[in-house]
Amino acid sequence: MSEEQLKIHHDKHHAAYVTGANAILEKLDKAHKGEIELDLKAEIKALSFNIGGHVMHSLFWENLAPAGKSGGGEPTGKLADKIKEDFGSFDRFRDEFNKAGISVEGSGWAALAHCKLTGRLLLMQIEKHSVNLYPNFDILMVADAFEQAYYIDYKNDRAKFFGAIWEVINWKKISERLG
Ligand SMILES: [Fe+2]
Repeated sequence: MSEEQLKIHHDKHHAAYVTGANAILEKLDKAHKGEIELDLKAEIKALSFNIGGHVMHSLFWENLAPAGKSGGGEPTGKLADKIKEDFGSFDRFRDEFNKAGISVEGSGWAALAHCKLTGRLLLMQIEKHSVNLYPNFDILMVADAFEQAYYIDYKNDRAKFFGAIWEVINWKKISERLG
């Protein structure tokens, strides 16, 4: 992942979701004071998109690390055991995660989630930033499948980006999220 790709993605695209969410929150505040009328359906939908965008990107940056330093390799300990138990093997998990990300309709995310009730790990295929989420699951690991994540480095080749992202995955952070 190049510096240019990372900077534009963080400073322009991620920032736009934060700006967008704050603008809607300000509109809600004005509406609550009776100053403006709102299309509540549209605003709440847009708020989900923008807050989702901020939260997902925050998870994303934290589960990345420089290749060869904290990034790359394979998980260890409890996380490695859980992946083997629930997916059969690490290779199988990686393959399924990539398939989930590459096949997102339009823009979205691949995510590894943990069910707090059963302890099971499950993949999520999130459309946009918040569609098809499993409510109340812990999100352990995400990979951005929006073109904004890879267009400078890989043009429109989402599969190539998903093939390369494993070199910068921060397994220590993801293990911490599992607890
Ligand atoms: Fe993104």
